[in-house]
Amino acid sequence: MKLTDNADLRPYNSFGVAARATCLAEIEHGDELEPATALAKERDLPMLLLGGGTNVLFAGDFPGLVLLMRNRGVEIDRESGLVRAAAGENWHDLVRTCLQNGLYGLENLALIPGSTGAAPVQNIGAYGVELESFFVELELFDCADGSLRTMSREDCQFSYRDSVLKQSQVQSRLQPLSPPQPQPKSPPQPQVVCSLTLQLPREPAPNLSYPALAQELEHVAKPTPQEVFEAVCRIRRRKLPNPAEIGNAGSFFKNPIISQDEFEQLSNRYDSPPSFPAKEGVKVPAGWLLDQCGFKGYQKGAAGVYERHALILVNRGGATGRELHQLAMKMQDHVQSEFGITLEPEVRIICTT
Ligand code: EPU
Repeated sequence: MKLTDNADLRPYNSFGVAARATCLAEIEHGDELEPATALAKERDLPMLLLGGGTNVLFAGDFPGLVLLMRNRGVEIDRESGLVRAAAGENWHDLVRTCLQNGLYGLENLALIPGSTGAAPVQNIGAYGVELESFFVELELFDCADGSLRTMSREDCQFSYRDSVLKQSQVQSRLQPLSPPQPQPKSPPQPQVVCSLTLQLPREPAPNLSYPALAQELEHVAKPTPQEVFEAVCRIRRRKLPNPAEIGNAGSFFKNPIISQDEFEQLSNRYDSPPSFPAKEGVKVPAGWLLDQCGFKGYQKGAAGVYERHALILVNRGGATGRELHQLAMKMQDHVQSEFGITLEPEVRIICTT
């Protein structure tokens, strides 16, 4: 385990904002989690788990111990379609490896930044597919009691960009809209995903249910999984900024789910607002709502909104986490007063001061 005191977290968050942690522990093997937890206890430090750092905003420093999962390894059984991957593996590399081994289904989830261990935490999803459809189990180290256990799909309680693991994380909501929360005496201890097991089909069954993807492939009679993979990569590259070039964390807010009545009111005001059916009502793209409020391309100092997508906050160089946090609150406020809809952040906001 590599330990760094007073660690610079800028390389470990895709927004590229400056923030420091009292201590950073880079975990290369699951066995190192126990001593890392003991160290945090000894120094009386709260702990925070970071995957690829692609879905987090540091609105301030983290006065505690940050765990960075760096364990590696992928086992593929082509006969059964079972894939077991270590949490520290890069997600997109795993998608490509499965495809190369004749196991399909993950192609719609290509190019999602981040680590494999973070994928089940927020049940990653894109272009009509969510991780939970392929999920078998994960191995988890619980820093609260040092136990190692296996969690099934049922245990994880997956839903849209959510799971039981996400709910247990240190997270602060955007302030103005949330009622004052009592501060927990001790923050929840991380539950660390060590590995993930998926079951993938051996027969190609391309999912073209997402309109933008179907449109991208409309000239291809019977697209192969490889063609779907390439189409997804093309769309994402066109529409989303590359975090290596412009600091961002993908969609900042979740797409809100509103009632049928509320959707009808919206349809009276706007000509055919975009929507997707959802279990509990109608899902309306947050990007569209923010676009109607004029946020696309908005800029205040170095914190701004991507010019091609209103749901993506960007750091144009040197923005602080606090500035990005303030911008997000302003966006949330506008949508609330314009539409009466509350946007919930998808990104995890670390706001400890
Ligand atoms: N739209 C606008 N203006 C904008 C942005 C979007 O009008 O500035 C409209 C689009 O025209 C489209 C609709 O909103 O009709 C939906 O936009 P898009 O296809 O870009 O998808 P999204 O709902 O914004 C979601 C996920 C993405 C995922 C895509 C594709 C959430 C919060 N986001 O975005 O996930 O890649 O669908 O499946 O569910 C992420 O989680 O970080 C992420 C990028």
